[in-house]
Amino acid sequence: MSQPALSPALANSPFMRACRREPNDVTPVWLMRQAGRYMPEYRELRAKVSFLELCKSPDLATEVTVTAAERLGVDAAILFADILLILEPIGFDLEFAKGEGPVIHNPIREAKDVDRVLPFDDPDSLDYVFKAVTSIRSALKPNLPLIGFAGAPFTLACYAIEGGGSRHYEKAKAFMYRDPGAFNVLMSRLVDATVIYLNMQAEAGAQVLQLFDSWVGTLGPDDYAQFVQPHMTRLFAELTPTAPAIHFGTDTNSLLELQRDAGGDVIGLDWRVDLAEAWDRLGPGVAVQGNLDPIILFGPESEVRARTRRVLDKAAGRPGHIFNLGHGILPHTPVDNVLALIDEVHSYRPR
Ligand code: CP3
Repeated sequence: MSQPALSPALANSPFMRACRREPNDVTPVWLMRQAGRYMPEYRELRAKVSFLELCKSPDLATEVTVTAAERLGVDAAILFADILLILEPIGFDLEFAKGEGPVIHNPIREAKDVDRVLPFDDPDSLDYVFKAVTSIRSALKPNLPLIGFAGAPFTLACYAIEGGGSRHYEKAKAFMYRDPGAFNVLMSRLVDATVIYLNMQAEAGAQVLQLFDSWVGTLGPDDYAQFVQPHMTRLFAELTPTAPAIHFGTDTNSLLELQRDAGGDVIGLDWRVDLAEAWDRLGPGVAVQGNLDPIILFGPESEVRARTRRVLDKAAGRPGHIFNLGHGILPHTPVDNVLALIDEVHSYRPR
């Protein structure tokens, strides 16, 4: 499997340059969940179709992705999909219940349940994702990179075991401690599926691949090193080498070096760390993405702008900074503040 060659317009875009740690005149910015419920255009469409219908329609997914990227004027678009879609073809019964978030009706609860996790040997079952990638790529401006993505295996395993969101991940972690062998098999199967899934997104037209390890911060460093890092290392090693990879997590202050060692050209930072200190710890071999607290967008515009500048001051014009929030935009975020943030990033020049 291979990725189509990068056009010069894409290769020279500020976002791709930052992924390669090359200098930029202006810091590139995009926002996790930039297409979502905070946007009236999205809510209008969602009044007519369910979330899964939206994900499964390449035309609608294209409309949502492109509308958000163009309305915001960001430097990258992200495929409209969800990290949990991969669970369907490998044997899970997934529902996005109204007001409840994602629900998996047949979660893994015992070691023997891992046997029913299927290999992802019919990638056509997610053809709607690959079609969306190709259609988004051709609808976007030729110089705007497209990010494909997947959930990281630990975060997917949490959903598969808990059966939905969770506060403490007690079912997933208890399973891991009680039955490390079965947990390892589950993680390996998730890695196998994710490698195929991401490489096919790259082949279909995604320039960059992001792994969302949203819940990995629930682990301490020893558990990360034992239960997660070997799987993440294999995953990154098996991704299409031409596509830069972004390694994202939250609450990862104690895990950053381990995550960097596992892989990724760009490491995601949330707002709980100081960007300059975290980047010093990571060293010059990686780019970083982050790290404004998404809640700041609920404050006054002057504060949004001031805090945005503070993050940029921390990066201090070092090559390889991609501006983003530390986690996704929340549903009631005022759109005007999002636009102010992007304007502030684009007007900023390092001192
Ligand atoms: O960033 C983007 O704009 C691209 C699309 C995207 C979505 N989900 C759309 C979505 C991406 C990259 C994701 C990733 C995702 N999904 C993650 C990792 C990122 C993170 O936030 O930590 C996780 C953990 C999920 C699982 C998931 N999907 C949850 C917990 C929920 C419910 C959240 C909620 O606020 O209700 C979803 C649903 C979801 N995924 C929505 C969107 C726009 C809201 C669905 C709706 O319209 O009702």
